[in-house]
Amino acid sequence: MKIIKTPDEFKEIRKTLKGKSIGFVPTMGGLHNGHLSLIKRAIAENDVSVVSVYLNPTQFNDKKDLETYPANFDDDCALLEKAGVDYLFAPTYPVMYPDDYKYMLTEKDFSKELCGAKRPGHFDGVLTVVMKLLNIVSPTRAYFGEKDYQQYKLLDGMVKAFFMDVTLVPCPIVREENGLAISSRNRKLSKEGLAKAPKFHEILTGGGSEAEITKKLEEAGFKVDYVTKKENRLYAAVFLEDVRLIDNVEK
Ligand code: PAF
Repeated sequence: MKIIKTPDEFKEIRKTLKGKSIGFVPTMGGLHNGHLSLIKRAIAENDVSVVSVYLNPTQFNDKKDLETYPANFDDDCALLEKAGVDYLFAPTYPVMYPDDYKYMLTEKDFSKELCGAKRPGHFDGVLTVVMKLLNIVSPTRAYFGEKDYQQYKLLDGMVKAFFMDVTLVPCPIVREENGLAISSRNRKLSKEGLAKAPKFHEILTGGGSEAEITKKLEEAGFKVDYVTKKENRLYAAVFLEDVRLIDNVEK
């Protein structure tokens, strides 16, 4: 696996890959089985695989959340190497934001709801960094997990709005056997928190109105950020031990 640190370097390599299909998985590190499922698909469905590991500061509205994000670059490299990834793109802030974030991409509607309502600026940061990454990597297909379903919908809208030449591939949520959606943030939970967390998904799939589900979550010890039904999906975010967990299920 080749590790590339700058957009210029990657763009030079990209010229040598003309005519090949490129599968790209953008990540913020702290890799787990959820990421691995996207990576395996990118490898299986394309000639060349690229993974980025970049903890993007512009999508964190809470400094503490950024500082405590559970990422370990050496572990991530070992996992990617073992999975058989061809290129790891691992840039730094100065090379990703030569403009120091003076330019950003905004969506004015859905990005202000759900997670966007609770995390101001979050989706501006996500859309901006993914646009940059797609411009640098220029992949055939880019893979995104449906745990962040709102993120996927917004990115899909961005690709259509800007006539971008990439296919986004949404991938099903990977869960522990007990139903808990796998997330880097699960690592921040204590043993007791980890034992309680699966109740989140159990309650979401148990039916009821938004208010009834909220009540059940609160009784189970979660602090509810939101529970919202939209189109054919139930979205929710909760706090457990100050760790923010999100999930969504089809209705
Ligand atoms: O889903 C994530 O891990 C991030 O939001 C992404 C898409 C890598 C952008 O930083």
